[in-house]
Amino acid sequence: MTERVPIGDILRGDRTGQSVKVRGWVYRTRSSGGIAFLLLRDATGVVQSTFRKEEVGDTLFAAIEATGREAAVVIEGTVAEDKRAPGGYEVRGSAFEVVGPSANFPIARDLSEEFLLDVRHLWIRSRRMTSVFKVRSTVFRAIHDYFREEGFYEVQAPIITPVGSEGGSSLFQVRYFDRDLHLTQSWQLYAEALVMALERIYTIAPSFRAEKSRTPRHLTEYWHAEMEVAWEGMEEALRHGEGVITRAAQEVAARNEAELAYLGRDADYLRSIRPPFPQITYDEALERLQGQGVEIEWGKDLRTLEERALGEMFDLPVIVTHYPKETQAFYKRTDPEDPDLVLAFDFIAPGRGGELIGGSEREPDLEVLKANLVRTGEDPKAYDWYLDTRRYGSVPHSGFGMGVDRLVQWVCDLEHIRDAIPFPRTPTRYAP
Ligand code: 4AD
Ligand code: MG
Repeated sequence: MTERVPIGDILRGDRTGQSVKVRGWVYRTRSSGGIAFLLLRDATGVVQSTFRKEEVGDTLFAAIEATGREAAVVIEGTVAEDKRAPGGYEVRGSAFEVVGPSANFPIARDLSEEFLLDVRHLWIRSRRMTSVFKVRSTVFRAIHDYFREEGFYEVQAPIITPVGSEGGSSLFQVRYFDRDLHLTQSWQLYAEALVMALERIYTIAPSFRAEKSRTPRHLTEYWHAEMEVAWEGMEEALRHGEGVITRAAQEVAARNEAELAYLGRDADYLRSIRPPFPQITYDEALERLQGQGVEIEWGKDLRTLEERALGEMFDLPVIVTHYPKETQAFYKRTDPEDPDLVLAFDFIAPGRGGELIGGSEREPDLEVLKANLVRTGEDPKAYDWYLDTRRYGSVPHSGFGMGVDRLVQWVCDLEHIRDAIPFPRTPTRYAP
């Protein structure tokens, strides 16, 4: 029996001269001079196959010519090296069978971005999308490998939560029987409880933000890689931020050369990502921005515009530390050397993606935490279980959250974050 092989094997030259069976989807067909050319795609690549009318007969030849784009087919033939074929190899076909027919596939060239989002369930088959998804798979692997090799336990927090951690304005409500609860913004509060048990922990899970902001780097549902370490301050979290970004960049450069080439991303740039990353304070960031004529008032959070300007000043992601306390979440530790600041940080990447990581050392003092909750309009009673983390054997701890879709966006250099995820959720896009 003829062996079934992935297209990738053929393109690597592993099958030349062999008789093979290939299954996949029709990328394109054309015929000329009694030869039908059929580009076939599977998950591993695209290969050309050719069928000669004089060999396969009129009936089968007509069937091949009539096969629609994206039909699922199985072919058999002999692999030959051929410089004229895309990829340098072709399968000289002898048998052809349609498994799943397809007529009038709705996606042709030059369609609008909105239409491609409407037919996302089909557009995900495109070479561009599958290239991104392969990179994305490597990024997830790299995050898991990094934290596991660093001695972290993977642990899960709930998605449905009674209280938020990142401020009420971006909380999604869920009707939970007869009460209103929320979709999680971050594992933050649970991580601070779990870290007293497992000491070094991480997770990769969906987070939700009801942000109407329509920017090229915001989703309403995104994948959040978060870590928390006990007995450690901000510096330790910073080193892990550098470590995990570096690991992801290096792994993608090593494993996804073909995909990066297709997406037009320079693999050598990703190879150049190594610690130490440049590190400045919020005050220094403001000085640099003002030096470039960007007007920004002290105390304000950096917006997309300012982040972009800052990111462009460095080749590596830049770490910004010591943010003004006023705008920051209640759990971030007040700087013991300046009560107006918190020991918080962001990693801001050059190019697309922007803020990849946000994190901090956590406030150890129970009374300061309560006051911060009140200042941010929350009722400390609702957080009482969380406050127990400070009542019973609390230790210094720090952590961060990383937007995995933003990391993928940056690694692939994608204009819009929605192309970093198969089925994006934005304020106006929730189907398919
Ligand atoms: O900076 P954020 O809001 O920090 C937290 O949620 C902390 N509780 C994390 C922690 O310390 N455990 O979010 C962290 C990261 C951001 O830096 C960004 O990369 C990503 O999550 N992020 C988003 N990604 C896509 N779409 C959105 N709407 C995002 N909001 C945040
Ligand atoms: Mg942030």
